[in-house]
Amino acid sequence: MEALQVGLAGFGTVGTGVAKILLEEAAWLERRSGRQIRLKRIADLDLERDRGVSLEKVQTSTRVEDILEDPEIRVLIELMGGIEPAKSFVLDAIAAGKHVVTANKALLASHGTELFQAAEAKGVQIGFEAAVAGGIPIVRSLREGLAADRILSIAGIINGTANYILSTMTEQGREFPECLKEAQEKGYAEADPSLDIEGQDTAHKLAILIGLACGVSVHPEDIFTEGIQRVTGMDIRYARELGYRIKLLALSKILDGELEARVHPTMIPESHLLASVGHAFNAVYATGRGTGPVMFYGKGAGMMPTGSAVVSDLVSLARNMRPGMPHDIPALGFYGQFPQDARLRPMEELVTKYYMRFPVVDRPGVLSKISGILGDHGISIDSVIQKGRQQAGPVHIIMLTHEARERDVRHALDVIDRLEVALDKSLFIRIEDSFDPPGLEPA
Ligand code: NDP
Ligand code: HSE
Repeated sequence: MEALQVGLAGFGTVGTGVAKILLEEAAWLERRSGRQIRLKRIADLDLERDRGVSLEKVQTSTRVEDILEDPEIRVLIELMGGIEPAKSFVLDAIAAGKHVVTANKALLASHGTELFQAAEAKGVQIGFEAAVAGGIPIVRSLREGLAADRILSIAGIINGTANYILSTMTEQGREFPECLKEAQEKGYAEADPSLDIEGQDTAHKLAILIGLACGVSVHPEDIFTEGIQRVTGMDIRYARELGYRIKLLALSKILDGELEARVHPTMIPESHLLASVGHAFNAVYATGRGTGPVMFYGKGAGMMPTGSAVVSDLVSLARNMRPGMPHDIPALGFYGQFPQDARLRPMEELVTKYYMRFPVVDRPGVLSKISGILGDHGISIDSVIQKGRQQAGPVHIIMLTHEARERDVRHALDVIDRLEVALDKSLFIRIEDSFDPPGLEPA
């Protein structure tokens, strides 16, 4: 059978992994696909840098158009990242009747519906297994393995960089900037690492997961998103003392028919499976009505895990293109209307437990003043820690609350932050003691 010819746009971290797998595992991939997969062209702005890959049999260029204009190439592998020009190249490839494989979650989360519709109209496919959780096959699992189930909740650690930073700070007591630098050196971080740290990358992936799990469309900008930049070593130490770990979580729950979707640092019990997911590893803990909880765990970022997920899409395409094989599994796994926009529950309505830290003057009466204000807002305190007096600077009062409403918490902290004894802005971290929806057997 004729080889499937593919072109790669973006020869960076993931692109290099893809090229290595295609060139070094050609025989294995042929057995898996039923035909050869031939990397015909690579386009990248920088063709000088040594990637440790022999490109003798590959045509290289700085122009993605060279791939788009090559009629023999049936698949564009888009690994440049960002919205433009990636979006235009993808649309041009679709218009030229080429399939697309991409790891670009920012693009899919913001413009997925438009791209999937264009692909469907043209009878081509978009593969995006690598766009969520790197090497973990979560896209196919939600679209196919869990197709029969109603997914009631998802809790995910789906940003390798943020998880690497938080776990290294937790285990080694190291500082934020050096942990970020290491994550960048290991190829986990986005070209703009603020996407990792401020939570947008996690929100992009959560939007894609919700599309796959629930068949509705959520714009990433509508997802409440808070990053890890304010979490300090001190909060990590207090969390440990209280029996918790701090993780950047993507959370989605169906509650009373409404969808809750949020991304923020979260304190989770150290005994929960998600608490032991360290370094650049990712995990997705999904609870289905029928299956109950299922958890997926693996490397969520990096050259080879992500490259492997990209190439798995090429294998699927090659298989589907065999004569007589059906190839019409919809991108998100739902037939009929394209996903409708979901109505999201406002964040102010969230009810959960909270960790709070107040940097204040060490003076009699401060603790009772703070607890009085919390009480006035209907917030009940579960426990309090105040460590001994320091040489200089504020003392930190730590409180854990019982379940409280986010709106009340924000109002109360506004009042507390304006007290004359408040030496800095307070910090709060939401606590999730369980991810199992009410009425289901706990894990
Ligand atoms: P890199 O920045 O390492 O690679 C992107 C490459 O694309 C660079 O070599 C860049 O060249 C090149 N490029 C940018 N613009 C153009 C253009 N107009 N024409 C040709 N080449 C271009 O990114 P990654 O490999 O890390 O990420 C690629 C995609 O995969 C992104 O969408 C990312 O979100 C996603 N992803 C990344 C993962 C990871 O672990 N790194 C995991 C999962 C998904 P130059 O450097 O010269 O600008
Ligand atoms: N920057 C992303 C991360 C890459 O750290 O998880 C994987 O999507």
